[in-house]
Amino acid sequence: MAEHPAYPVGLRLTGRKVVVLGGGQVAQRRLPALIAAGADVLLVSPEVTPSVEAMADAGEISWQRRPYAEGDLADAWYALIATSDDEANTAASAEAERHRVWCVRSDDADAATAWTPATGTSEGVTVAVLTSRARGRDPRHTAAIRDAVVEGLRDGTLVAPHHRTRTPGVALVGGGPGDPDLITVRGRRLLAEADVVIADHLGPRDLLAELPANVEVIDAAKLPYGRFMAQEAINSALIEHAKQGKSVVRLKGGDPFVYGRGMEEVQALAEAGIPCTVVPGISSSISVPGAAGIPVTHRGVAHEFTVVSGHIAPDDERSLVDWPALARLTGTLVILMGVGTIGKVAETLVAHGRPADTPVAVVQEGTTAGQRRVDATLATVAEAVRTHEVKAPSVIVIGDVVAVGPRPAG
Ligand SMILES: C[S@@+](CC[C@H](N)C(=O)[O-])C[C@H]1O[C@@H](n2cnc3c(N)ncnc32)[C@H](O)[C@@H]1O
Repeated sequence: MAEHPAYPVGLRLTGRKVVVLGGGQVAQRRLPALIAAGADVLLVSPEVTPSVEAMADAGEISWQRRPYAEGDLADAWYALIATSDDEANTAASAEAERHRVWCVRSDDADAATAWTPATGTSEGVTVAVLTSRARGRDPRHTAAIRDAVVEGLRDGTLVAPHHRTRTPGVALVGGGPGDPDLITVRGRRLLAEADVVIADHLGPRDLLAELPANVEVIDAAKLPYGRFMAQEAINSALIEHAKQGKSVVRLKGGDPFVYGRGMEEVQALAEAGIPCTVVPGISSSISVPGAAGIPVTHRGVAHEFTVVSGHIAPDDERSLVDWPALARLTGTLVILMGVGTIGKVAETLVAHGRPADTPVAVVQEGTTAGQRRVDATLATVAEAVRTHEVKAPSVIVIGDVVAVGPRPAG
């Protein structure tokens, strides 16, 4: 008899009864998607894994703690049979057939009347990959095809053009600390779709090299204005390109709102009536210490961390930072833009009560090939920065967390 291919379909299960028999690893893997589909899930199993139990405790599924019994599938729309008892699986499968309930079997794809595809999502589209025939099924290959499609769509290496009109406007994208893998999936996708990218020096510069030749890349630092005018020049460039109907990405280091002047750009775009999407990024304030083996909090060591700009020295009248209050804290201080002022900062903290032997680490160019870490104390950090010729961009971490991890090489 000729073997016909399976017919692919999407089941709309909201509020419809789905019976799952067996509460082991198969159920654990399949239940989240059934719950997400809004199915009314009845799980029948004497035992379940801790994760499945948590779903039952949270009220996401109903759990009857017993083996399968004839009649369980009578009013179901769909069934997943995955017990470790072959006889029960066969009996349940026969019952499903009698009641015309589509049924997936984890133990016997041939006997099943439905197969679960390997699925993934990208931009609100579900990618489902199904082996078309029972013979020669290779679930790993199916999953690999799914991964290739979903990953490709997410990172922009597979481009599926939108045939709806693109919303012209600006996406303010946090690019993360520098490693190109540390941008968000959404950020990377928007970058792949951009006509114009206005980028800072910090962040994932390597990603710019991957952009197609037709994408205009503008170096924000090279806009033809003096230092004072830089932000105005960036705002004008964003507005000008967006008004031409282009998709513009403003790529920033870390997170756009952590010392990134992101809100100034959002405000300028709002005043010009240009739509703006903000995509958060991984801030260097947490990720750079982490990449150097320093947790910003640690149980029993630091219950708070405070991120401070070192751009303006503590004795400068423009400073808005209450340094004496920071010196009284016992947790972690993370200082950004502080290489030039660390001497004064350390002096001020010690003068207001932070012990001089508090550990300090300075991490330069974190998450990139040039990453290096210099360790010191509040008493010695200014000298260490000079001796080791530490440069920006660096994150300075002050507090006992510096000493809790295994000391990394370099
Ligand atoms: C203008 S702030 C921007 C911060 C950024 N928005 C963020 O969330 O990470 C620039 C400062 O961030 C820190 N920084 C950013 N990326 C860094 C990296 N890869 N390694 C070390 N420090 C970094 C440095 O302190 C640098 O002077």
